[in-house]
Amino acid sequence: MNNLLCLFKVIVMILCLRESIYVNGFGERAYFSDREDNNPAYYISPALQKLEHAPEFVKDWPNISITLGQVSGVTLDNAGRVLVFHRGEHTWDEHTFTNGNIYLGIGKPAIQHKTILIFNETGELLDMWGDDFFYMPHGITVDSEGNVWTTDVALHQVFKFNATNRRVPAMVLGEKFVPGTDDHHFCKPSAVAVLSTGDFFIADGYCNHRILKYNPKGQIILQWGTHNSHSPFSLNVPHALALAENSGVVLVADRERGRVASFRHDNGSYVTSYSSWLMGPRIFSVAYSPVHGGRLYVVNGPNGVVPVRGYVLELASGRLVGTFDAPAGLASPHDVAAATDGSAVYVAQLAPHAVYKFVDERLRDEAPPAPPAPPAPPAAPPATPATLAGAVTSRGGRWAGAAAGAGAALCAGALLLRGALRRARGEPRH
Ligand SMILES: *[C@@H]1O[C@H](CO)[C@@H](O)[C@H](O)[C@H]1NC(C)=O
Ligand SMILES: *[C@@H]1O[C@H](CO)[C@@H](O)[C@H](O)[C@H]1NC(C)=O
Ligand SMILES: *[C@@H]1O[C@H](CO)[C@@H](O)[C@H](O)[C@H]1NC(C)=O
Ligand SMILES: *[C@@H]1O[C@H](CO)[C@@H](O)[C@H](O)[C@H]1NC(C)=O
Repeated sequence: MNNLLCLFKVIVMILCLRESIYVNGFGERAYFSDREDNNPAYYISPALQKLEHAPEFVKDWPNISITLGQVSGVTLDNAGRVLVFHRGEHTWDEHTFTNGNIYLGIGKPAIQHKTILIFNETGELLDMWGDDFFYMPHGITVDSEGNVWTTDVALHQVFKFNATNRRVPAMVLGEKFVPGTDDHHFCKPSAVAVLSTGDFFIADGYCNHRILKYNPKGQIILQWGTHNSHSPFSLNVPHALALAENSGVVLVADRERGRVASFRHDNGSYVTSYSSWLMGPRIFSVAYSPVHGGRLYVVNGPNGVVPVRGYVLELASGRLVGTFDAPAGLASPHDVAAATDGSAVYVAQLAPHAVYKFVDERLRDEAPPAPPAPPAPPAAPPATPATLAGAVTSRGGRWAGAAAGAGAALCAGALLLRGALRRARGEPRH
């Protein structure tokens, strides 16, 4: 009888141990190590096949004869026009910065090409500007008033341009060419996102790994982000931002942690993370559409493990529901933008220099999404750590959280059981 109990205890302990490795370690590694075949490629095609293949690639978009440089950013304005931010004749490589993040081209001319191109939905070039100003374009966004916000990693600055003056910014944050960590400096800032109230977020960026929130006057009202810790606030290159304003969150593409982290946009509280072994260890950008209860459009990047593609996830459940790709394959997508109704998605790519359009015509015909609800507290994590579509697991996210819960419950049960057994046998506690 004693032997039987012992055996039972050992089995429970092994289960607990497995559970904690699965939860604390790298989800995808633990996942694969369960299988006979350790090669991720073995699981990729079946997992991709289970996903919807949408939105679909649009051929020959846009219609331009001019040459793009590295395309770093893409965004949409209120009227559905597409703004593309590219680096013209400049490229970011190992000769661009000193080890101290100082740009090595100081004194040389700014990019002579017009770096901001504006297309209509059918891909006709409507306008272009932004020449002789930028050195190393990164992020671009348009706010609800039509102001264009950009970041430049060489200048270490963030700019707001209004519609009446495309030469002189209406707001400049950061000091030209001077990286820094204080409230008046950035270090390679990557992205901006603007709330309908005019408050805005800056992702700063490649070295400071922090998110800052400002009021419309450009005064800091909140900041968060640490580096090199296991905290959910630990960021490793916050590379892009998106707002799910109706759900009360700002989404951060936390590039080198391979996740999209979600924080309350009012006070910066951590809400959840989105990741999956199928998307891999590097997430470059995220966009959001309120369609179908809220969807995230994500592009990963070169990682040597999983294919480079676009993915569609549900905001509320974290489920991976779709995937999209260019016929020639995405090589180094850098940014993604989505139309409000989800019917069009755009991808900016560094190399080969390109901007791609994808459409989901079914969504265009649907009724518009319900008007934004007042920012609600984020939904509670789902109770069951189900295996998701495409056998998706997630580390550090709500699924891991739920799995941790289940694991903890199991372990707690085991401990109680062991305690009860000990008491029954009069063993000392130590
Ligand atoms: C592409 O743009 C040029 C003008 O720049 C125009 O003449 C041509 O018809 C356009 N092609 C298509 C397929 O729209
Ligand atoms: C895009 O612009 C072209 C040229 O001005 C025009 O013919 C076309 O109808 C426009 N498309 C849309 C969707 O506005
Ligand atoms: C637009 O920005 C310029 C600075 O470039 C500023 O002088 C002008 O007042 C701004 N216009 C509005 C309407 O804010
Ligand atoms: C943010 O607001 C929520 C809801 O009011 C609250 O639960 C949370 O503790 C707040 N977080 C911080 C950091 O103030």
